[in-house]
Formats: sequence, C-alpha cells, structure tokens
Amino acid sequence: MSVTSGEIKRVTTHVIQAMKHRGEKIAMLTAYDFSMARILDEAGIDILLVGDSASNVMAGHETTLPITLDQMIYHAQSVVRAVHRAMVVVDLPFGSYQSNSEIALKSAIRIMKESGAHAVKLEGGAEVEESIKRILMAGIPVMGHLGLTPQSIYKFGTYTVRAREEAEAQKLREDARLLDELGCFALVLEKIPAQLAKEVSESIEIPTIGIGAGGDTDGQVLVIHDMLGITKDFKPRFLRRYLNLFEAIGEATRKYIEDVKSRDFPNESEQY
Ligand code: KIV
Repeated sequence: MSVTSGEIKRVTTHVIQAMKHRGEKIAMLTAYDFSMARILDEAGIDILLVGDSASNVMAGHETTLPITLDQMIYHAQSVVRAVHRAMVVVDLPFGSYQSNSEIALKSAIRIMKESGAHAVKLEGGAEVEESIKRILMAGIPVMGHLGLTPQSIYKFGTYTVRAREEAEAQKLREDARLLDELGCFALVLEKIPAQLAKEVSESIEIPTIGIGAGGDTDGQVLVIHDMLGITKDFKPRFLRRYLNLFEAIGEATRKYIEDVKSRDFPNESEQY
C-alpha cells in the first residue's frame, strides 16, 4: 500500500518493509528544521528522523536527556511542513515514555497529533514492552532502537561500542526478536559489532537501520550535522563526512565580514 500526493509516492511503513524484502537499502538522515528537511526530501531520502540528537546539535547540550517533548514537537512540525515524500519519524524524548505505558501513549499521541509525523521511535527492548504495545494498539507505527541508546548514557558511562560481551549481545538478540514480534516496523542498531548487526538483521523480519553497525544492516542513518561536517570535533570511526561545512560556512562568513567592512557589499546592483 502506498499513499500518493500528486505525482509523489510517499514512503510508508509498508514501503520500508518492502525495501528490505527486495534487498534495497534504506537511507535515513536526521533533520530538525524546515530548510534542511526540504533539501533532504527533494534529494530523495527515504526516512527523516527528528532525532533527540537535536538536544546536542541544535541546542548544544552534552547529552540527549534535556530536550523536552514540546521541543521535539516544534522540530517535528518544522520538518513535516517541508516533506513531500519521505517518512518522518520522531524520537520520544527522555522522560516522555519510561515511567509507564499510559504516559508513553500520551506522548506518542501528542507527537502524531501536533506535528503530523508518521511514526515514533523509542529506545530499549523488554523494559519498554508495555509502552510499545500500547502505542502500537493506538495505530501509531513504532521504530525501535537498540545497542548504544544515548538516553541511557549515565548507565553506560561512555559512548563506546555496545554488546561486545556475549551476555549483552544475547540480550540484544532477544530484544530485537521481541520488537519484531510486537510489531515495530523497523529497528535502529547503534554502535554494535558488525557481525552481531548482520546476524540480527538476518534473523528478524523488520528492517534494521544501522549507525556504526557495519554494512549488513538493511539501511543506514547518520546525524545530518555530522554527515555534512558541521560538527567539527566529533570523529567516530563509523562517520563518513560528505562535506566540510564547518570550514565552508566559516570561509563564507569571513568573506562576508570582509565585504561589509570594506564597503564592497552591497554594491550598486544590490540596492534599490
Ligand atoms: O537522535 C538521533 O539522532 C538518533 C540516531 C543517531 C539514530 O537516534
């Protein structure tokens, strides 16, 4: 099934799942604002994730914990307004779903109702089973997230690779199976060994989308600010930078300052 708007065939949960079954990789990026979302959508991205990484790259916090549900909804509204084709998935922020399934459902409903997004994402496996069930029962598609789950950073202590030890790998396998059985439509695997990500991707029905999880997941996701080189000092091994916008924007800004100070800008043709 696909939802059409004019000529454009929208990406839905069904489209994403069909991509896995025909072996077509899924491309996902984060977006937090209208202008960037418009570029990424027109370029043909499959999924835009309004990630709680907005807490880091948009607001400058050290972790994803401080961002609020209201702030996530604001970012999601801006992204949804820009998009014609991509599926928009929104992170449930820390504190908006962990306490109980009723609060989780209320948070998910607020996101869907107030932003017009197409799905929510939340972190964790068995611990959040009841919340996932309840959100799914309300007809809201859910994307899972296992491995390095940044909302639990103070439990982990570091952002290093997860599930290297067999006990943690086994828990991840079981959680992935559970999320598949519950009816999540896709699953993010963050920063886990490539071999484990391959095994999980092959053993569950739903598509896996990796970040730092090797090339055998069903899709890939990066934070847009990292992929475009806007963040300067974040250099994990998994990150491929496609531009160095930190330098390019700095260079343009220096040139603008120079032109203003030298009275070169604006010139005759740039005034009324
Ligand atoms: O918030 C985010 O950007 C994410 C991705 C890293 C998957 O959850």
